[in-house]
Amino acid sequence: MSEAINYEVIKKSLSGIEEEYTRFQKEHFGNWEIWADASEKVYNREPVDESKIPKAFHNELRAMKILLEMEDLGEFDWNSPKLREAFAAISGGVFHQFFGKTIAEIAITLAELIKPETLLEIGAGNGKLTRLTCETMRKKKINLPMVITDSKPVFNEVIGKIKEDFPEAKINPFLWDIKEEPKDELKAAIKRPSLLYERYTITYTSVSAIANIAKVADFIVLGDWLSITGKTYGYDKAFAKIGAKTLLYDDVKAELNKYYNQFYFFDKKAQEAINSPYVSILVAWRRN
Ligand SMILES: C[S@@+](CC[C@H](N)C(=O)[O-])C[C@H]1O[C@@H](n2cnc3c(N)ncnc32)[C@H](O)[C@@H]1O
Repeated sequence: MSEAINYEVIKKSLSGIEEEYTRFQKEHFGNWEIWADASEKVYNREPVDESKIPKAFHNELRAMKILLEMEDLGEFDWNSPKLREAFAAISGGVFHQFFGKTIAEIAITLAELIKPETLLEIGAGNGKLTRLTCETMRKKKINLPMVITDSKPVFNEVIGKIKEDFPEAKINPFLWDIKEEPKDELKAAIKRPSLLYERYTITYTSVSAIANIAKVADFIVLGDWLSITGKTYGYDKAFAKIGAKTLLYDDVKAELNKYYNQFYFFDKKAQEAINSPYVSILVAWRRN
């Protein structure tokens, strides 16, 4: 990696995206505490005045209520149309889209600086973040080789559709459970230096996956909501039922420190502006 890449250069190159992110967070999540407290009540099956919950959280509220309803009936069903629709509303919602776009723009802006040989994505799932990354590259007229991974075979169909929509994209898909070390074939496909980006995958695995990721990723952009305070809210307890974990920022940072020695806290301003208890986007790299 070029010596010219340092904290200041990175901060400067991301400043426009950062400003937008801070503005968005203030506008949408300034009242996060109202939702956090209300979600605790919802979880305890106490009445809440929904009109007082900021609109930005209504999709989560709906999904949460469906999950709890299922729990009360003792019938959890991922295929329930109501549940699927509620999660589709979250993933089609304004924030999810904006958050994904932000991660994609950070990754590609950094890629312009670092010039990685491979863009690596983990936990690509339904491919929403992959699509946003392809769109961002198309806009910027760059086309880096991508290694896109997930642990579930169904994602191969998703990749097929992305390739149809982005015929120029150089996508090499691999199945990879990040709880396991990367296999030799995958390692061979990832040319170094590599830039890894992801959203909500570490949240569904564990901190120990970082050791595996670090074996193939020189530069990382992580989009997981890491708890600074360790306090859990009703929504954490409800979404734990579908595998989402509350990861502590301290645990993740301690693990990252073993493999990376440079950090840029992309969302620091946003966090301070709304007194958020989360780190949402973290950039790390190693400098020898
Ligand atoms: C909430 S989805 C996020 C999907 C996508 N990253 C996005 O932001 O739209 C979590 C993804 O993590 C994947 N996943 C869960 N456990 C995993 C593991 N151990 N290794 C790799 N991927 C995993 C799931 O298959 C799923 O696609």
